[in-house]
Amino acid sequence: MTDASNINYFTEAGSVEAVNARVGDETNPRLREVMESLVRHLHAFAKDVHLTQEEWGVAIDFLTRTGKMCDGNRQEFILLSDVLGLSMLVDAINNRRPSGATENTVLGPFHVEGAPVRAMGDEISLDGKGESCLFEGRVLALDGKPVAGAKLDVWCDNAEGYYDVQQPDIQPKWNNRGVFVTGADGTYAFRGIRPVSYPIPDDGPVGQMLGALGRHPNRPAHMHFIVSADGYETVITHTFVADDKWLTSDAVFGVKSSLLTKMEPGESGDTIWKSNFDFVLNAVRKD
Ligand code: BEZ
Ligand code: FE
Repeated sequence: MTDASNINYFTEAGSVEAVNARVGDETNPRLREVMESLVRHLHAFAKDVHLTQEEWGVAIDFLTRTGKMCDGNRQEFILLSDVLGLSMLVDAINNRRPSGATENTVLGPFHVEGAPVRAMGDEISLDGKGESCLFEGRVLALDGKPVAGAKLDVWCDNAEGYYDVQQPDIQPKWNNRGVFVTGADGTYAFRGIRPVSYPIPDDGPVGQMLGALGRHPNRPAHMHFIVSADGYETVITHTFVADDKWLTSDAVFGVKSSLLTKMEPGESGDTIWKSNFDFVLNAVRKD
């Protein structure tokens, strides 16, 4: 007869050990580390809040509806990660940079590969809406030297708060998007519109969750940038309009004080605003 007292049957007190003991000896060590920790934290959470059967059912239903709202155009799970601050945390853990280097923030769901490469100074706003704005600055290395051949992939919403991909039948393709490449002096310049604040897509389970928590879905006005150059870490970031009312309560926690840009009055008659921002790149370590 087997001695039942030695068998690791599931108990409330020994729940973590019961599950983690099943991980096979040949399991990838990193997978083991991640999954064992996940089980520890998940079980501790359920015990901490004394999760009821009904609440567990609500959570399963929420996750099911979240999954059903994911396809090639909509990724409700990433949105969930964004509003829980997890996207920003994973980004922070993986993009620690020396002081002075431009900081990252969330990519967001509206980046599109393959935007047109435009000449410096070109216009990206194609729908004729909004307040004109000149975006200019330099791409520099940490030692202050200009970075030539740096690629700036930029995108923002239109004056009504929607990205072109959210309104394919209304906005021109590639509205408020473009790619610019710096010359020897590292400077960049392009024309667009002063970005406006907008709500993240809130017609799904994540929006319902925000509502239940008394949270708003808004993001402060921003221009997205991916700045890349050979020999440097790629920066995925935004510049934020410095006086926006949602800066301190961004729905996805993307704001960093180093990324604020003050909108100054434009100098020429056809440009109402001007935003000047320098990007500072961190050289890739050569080990
Ligand atoms: C955005 O800035 O485009 C964005 C970021 C996170 C969630 C939704 C939108
Ligand atoms: Fe955005």
